[in-house]
This record gives sequence, structure tokens and C-alpha cells, in this order.
Amino acid sequence: MNFLVTGAAGFIGSHLVDRLLALGHHVTGYDNFSTGQPEFLQDALASPRFRLVRADILDQAALEEAMAGADFVFHMAANADVRFGTQHPWKDLEQNTIGTWRVLEAMRKQGVRRIGFASTGSIYGEPEIFPTPENCPFPVQTSLYGASKLAAEGFIEAYAEGFGFQAWIFRFVSILGERYSHGHVFDFYKQLREHPDELHVLGNGRQRKSYLYVHDCVDAMLLAIEKAQGKVNIFNLGTDEYCEVNDSIRWITEHLGLRPRLIYSGGDRGWVGDNPFIFLDCSRMRALGWRPRLSIREAVIRTVDYLVANPFLLERR
Ligand SMILES: NC(=O)c1ccc[n+]([C@@H]2O[C@H](COP(=O)([O-])OP(=O)(O)OC[C@H]3O[C@@H](n4cnc5c(N)ncnc54)[C@H](O)[C@@H]3O)[C@@H](O)[C@H]2O)c1
Repeated sequence: MNFLVTGAAGFIGSHLVDRLLALGHHVTGYDNFSTGQPEFLQDALASPRFRLVRADILDQAALEEAMAGADFVFHMAANADVRFGTQHPWKDLEQNTIGTWRVLEAMRKQGVRRIGFASTGSIYGEPEIFPTPENCPFPVQTSLYGASKLAAEGFIEAYAEGFGFQAWIFRFVSILGERYSHGHVFDFYKQLREHPDELHVLGNGRQRKSYLYVHDCVDAMLLAIEKAQGKVNIFNLGTDEYCEVNDSIRWITEHLGLRPRLIYSGGDRGWVGDNPFIFLDCSRMRALGWRPRLSIREAVIRTVDYLVANPFLLERR
């Protein structure tokens, strides 16, 4: 098949590209390199079945041209940083909602009808049901990021209804693993590299979060598009466990052989829109025969090992 992957040079997108190529598919990677890294596409660029388009998803003409002949679009490009939403209120709307609408329009014009979308567990805001299922009561939004992704989901569903699209919407917990380039493990390791004796922690460290290893995430997406054939297929993707930020700090510091002084900013959340408890019910995905291979602890340690071996990333971001 011919796949187009937006956000191909990003953390998750680049792993997806590598896997699609390994399975023998043709892949067009589309990325503006705003947060993507050329190094992540090194293997892909060596394949004759890979083509890279360096452009923005807001550039409708470039997007339409790149999409000609595609059978399936994986839309991974986004502003993926939840934390800074209120510092630039336009960004999530523009990059995540309007960007997704542009992808849908380019697909419609080029007759591409199947889309896989990287959504997020953040769309559940602060739910009251744990683990949170896909059909929990309609969520109240607490972050601009979550709101922009939920709006994007809405457009995808409306295009499925209005234009006969088929969609797979994946609501991820936080993803960990090789090429990880943003999030709490990144921030903690970066601090510890500069000041091994102290670590500043946002909130009180008691926030409970779930995480998933990037290869488990890619496995799930590929299995879902093969096995689930509804019009709109929505899947939570996460592990059947959660940890406290303090657990994660302990795993990271023990692994690095450090005993830093912990300085908490206080309060039960790290920033406005930080959800103090994220734990998704992934039984719908598990019913297709998928299960994650790594625990959260194992994924945290792989991530630290990757960051230690790839200091270039810490200097760039
Ligand atoms: N990493 C996570 O924990 C996580 C959790 C939930 C959802 N997601 C979603 O998964 C997707 C991938 O996230 P990631 O962690 O790989 O992030 P990332 O920042 O590493 O990847 C995003 C990629 O999209 C590209 N991009 C951004 N804006 C673009 C634009 N306007 N035009 C073209 N390319 C653009 C970036 O250059 C980058 O390569 C995102 O949609 C994100 O919201 C990620």
C-alpha cells in the first residue's frame, strides 16, 4: 500500500514510517521539521520506497500534491506539547484542529478515504471513571491541546459521515521510548545532566499517569487498521497500569545512580491543564489481540538509556 505519514520526522511518526517500510509498503513522509529531527529518518531515507516531502500541513497545495496516489493517511503531525497551550492560545487550534481539517480536505480532493489519527487521552479532561473507557460521559476540556484534538476528532467523524471516509482514532497516553524528545523523562534527564544534585518537579509528584512504549503504540495502530473495520474506530492506547511521577523519578535516578534533592513546586498538578490522574481502559484494543510488551518502568528505563546515548537531542530542544 501507499501510506502518507504527516509528522514523519517526529518521535512516533518516524517509528511508524520505519515499521511501514519494513512491512514492504511505500511511504511518503510529510513534515515541516518544526520539532521533527532529520536523524530519525536516516533509515527511511535509505529505502527506495520512501519519499520525503518537507512542507507544512497548512500548505494546502503541497499537501494535495503529496497525497496523490496515497491509499491511507496517518496524521501524526501536531503541536504535541500540552503544557504551553495557554502561552500561545492560537497554536493548538491552528496546528491541531485547522491542520487536521486541511489534511481531510486534501484527502477529499485526492480521493483518499482512510485516515489514522493520533489523538490523545487529554481529550478526557479530568474524567470521573477509571480506567477511562472510550465511551465515558462527554468530557469537559481542561487544556487547549485536548480541546484542539477533540475538535479534530469531530471533523474526522463528520468527514466519515459526509464523505464516506473510514477513520481510526487513537487516544494515546504519554508515549515513551527511543527518539523520545519531549515530556517529563526528557525534562528530568535534561535537568539531571546539568545539575545531578537537584531536581525541580512540577506539582507534588503525586500525579498518577499511564505511559506506553512507542513500539507497542505502533503495533496497536497497525493491528487496529487491519482488524477494526467500522466507519469510525476509536481506541484508547495505554498500559493497564499507572505510576506516580515520584515512581518515575525513583526509576530514573536509581538507573542513573543519582540521589538528587527533590524540589517540588507544590499543588496536585504541574501546570494549568495538567491532569492529575490519567488511566485509560484499553480493553477494546486488547480484544483485537494486542497487548503491550513493556511495563511503564521498562519503558522509562529504555527512554533514559536512549537519551544518555543521544545527547544531540538535549541540545536541540
Ligand atoms: N508523545 C506523546 O506522548 C503523545 C501522546 C498523545 C498523543 N500524541 C500525538 O501523537 C502525534 C505525534 O507526537 P510526537 O510525540 O511524535 O510529537 P513530535 O513533536 O515528535 O512529532 C510531531 C511531528 O509533526 C511535525 N509537524 C508539526 N507541525 C507540523 C506542520 N504544521 N506541518 C508539518 N509537520 C508538522 C513535527 O516537525 C514533528 O516531526 C501528535 O499528533 C501528538 O499530539 C503524542
